[in-house]
Parts: sequence; C-alpha cells; structure tokens
Amino acid sequence: MRDLLAAVTALRERLADIPQADERRLQDLKTEILGRKAGALTKILGALPNLSPADRKAVGGAANILKRDFEAALAARERELASAARDPGGEDLTMPAHAAWRGGLHLVTQVVDEICEIFRELGFTRAVGPEAETEWYNFGALNFPKDHPAIDAQDSFYLGEGVLLRTHTSPVQVRTMERYRPPIRVVSPGQCYRRDPFDPSHSPVFEQIEGLVVDEGVTFVDLKATLSAFARRFFGPDTATRFSPSYFPFTEPSADMQVSCSVCRGSGCPTCKQTGWMEILGSGMVHPAVLENCRLDAERFTGFAFGMGPHRIAMVRHGIPDIRLFFESDVRFLAQFAGGSGGAP
Ligand code: DAH
Repeated sequence: MRDLLAAVTALRERLADIPQADERRLQDLKTEILGRKAGALTKILGALPNLSPADRKAVGGAANILKRDFEAALAARERELASAARDPGGEDLTMPAHAAWRGGLHLVTQVVDEICEIFRELGFTRAVGPEAETEWYNFGALNFPKDHPAIDAQDSFYLGEGVLLRTHTSPVQVRTMERYRPPIRVVSPGQCYRRDPFDPSHSPVFEQIEGLVVDEGVTFVDLKATLSAFARRFFGPDTATRFSPSYFPFTEPSADMQVSCSVCRGSGCPTCKQTGWMEILGSGMVHPAVLENCRLDAERFTGFAFGMGPHRIAMVRHGIPDIRLFFESDVRFLAQFAGGSGGAP
C-alpha cells in the first residue's frame, strides 16, 4: 500500500512534461499513464479491489485526483496544439487544401465533337487525312486551275517541291473517294494552314470540318435538307437557313449557307453585323471533274460537299470577338467554356 501511494506521487511528476509535449509525445504520455491495459495509473486503479477498505480509500483518493489532473492537463495541451496549428503566424493549417485543377476540353474541341456527333446521327462516319499534302490532293484533284492564287507560296506553307501544309480539309474528299466506293457519307475534322495574318478574324492555323456525300441520285435538295437539319440541331429548332450562290472550283453549283443569327434571333446585333444572318459554311454539288479525278463515273454518281470553320462557329455561337483568344491558353477565358468536363475549381 505504501508502494502504491509512492507510485502515485512519482507519477505526479510526469504532469510537468505535458505542457511542453508535442502531439506525438502527448499520445505517448497518454498511453503510458492512462492506457487501458498497461497504463501506470490504470494498473494502480486496477489493484484497488485487493486493498483493505482504509487503504483503498487513501490510494484510490490520491489516484483519482491524479487521474483528473492528468486528463485536464492533456486536454488543455491538446487545445493549445490545435489552435497553434490553426494560427502559426496567420495561416490556418486546418483549412482544406485547394482542390487540384482539372483539365477540360477546349471550346473548339467541344464544338468539333458536337458537330461530328450531329452528323453521326445523320449517318455520317469520321474520316481523317494528312496535314502535309501534295499539290495534287490539295488543289489539282479538286479542279483548281493551275494559276489559282492559293497555289502560290505567298499564300500557302510549302514544305518542299509540290508538298505543302493543307490549306483546307477538302483533300480528304479525294482520299475518301479513292479509297471507298459509294455510298459515301463522311465528315472530316482537322487542322489547316494558310499564310494569313494573326488578327481578330484570322489565324494561320485553324480547324475545318469537311463533309462529303456521294451516291446515285443525290441532289441539291439533299444538300439543303441535310445542312438545314444540322443547323437546327446545332443552333436551335427555330433556326432559319438560306443559301446564296457562291464559287468553289470543286463544286458546281456552289452555295454559302447562312443561318438566322443565334444571338439576336434575326433582329440585328453586332454579332451578325445588323443583318440578322450569319454565314457558317460553304457547300455545293461535287464537280463532275472531281468525281472523274477519283475514277468515279460522274454519269452514275452525284454528291454534295460542305466545309465549315469550327473556330468561327464557336465565335458566332458565343459572341467571342477575337479568334486569337482560342490560341492564348488563358485559363480565365477557357474555363468559362469548360462545362461539366473540367476547369478551375
Ligand atoms: N475548302 C473550302 C475553303 O477552305 C471550304 C469548302 C467550301 C469546302 C465548299 C467544301 C465545299 O467541301 O463544298 O474555303
């Protein structure tokens, strides 16, 4: 019984360790003294039932007071450590960490995917072609006259004699017709290159989506119906379309398609330059010479083609004033269009 009282008194000295203890040391002290099985004080309290009632009272009284003091000192030190963690000179280390930034699809990629998806539902598949092209695929097979200005090195990026960075996605028409027999229904997104200035409406690198349909009995009505259906799906069900005569060497007749302005709904605004209409693509019936260049019988097969610029389409849809914003990788701009797929937290 004397031993037990002495042990309680000795343990009391450990109280002095608590105010200096760090979090780990505090845990160790807790286990050492109050641990459920081997704690020093726990053992003393466990021995009480074997003592005479008088001894039990003396040792039990001292041990219980010590236990209370330990618990109070431990709790006080724990509070102190927690508040120090919260304010080690201004910073709150208990705050949750910043969420990691999650990447998202670029707006132009989203527009390309959405357009291809609409055409997929209309029965089109995706085709791809190389960005480095020969003059034949980029111009010749597409019925460009030999003296066409685009063939000039002033206007196109040449990689070598007769080889250049494609100036449009139309060469994929030729590659597709060479490789597959009609019926053909493809869209082909990809990058194109021209010696254009980098200004609000031009970029020397830009995206295009090409479309091509070839079969027996394809007419201009199919062209109008397909492209109008696309416009309503992309810009909204009450979108009006109109076609005006145009010229491309590889189509005859050729037509530009305009849609009623999706910003002002036709009443006139800066996006449509007060006209109520926005031009979104070029199109036409595939020129018989192009079919023949691909060894297709132009008496038997007809087709239509179209080409559009996803950068421009994204600009008119969202009222974006400057094409250069797409290339600057400014997250403040891009995150506005990250949708569900990512962006700054
Ligand atoms: N290749 C044309 C351009 O870059 C766009 C185009 C117009 C493609 C009419 C077509 C088309 O397939 O039919 O300006």
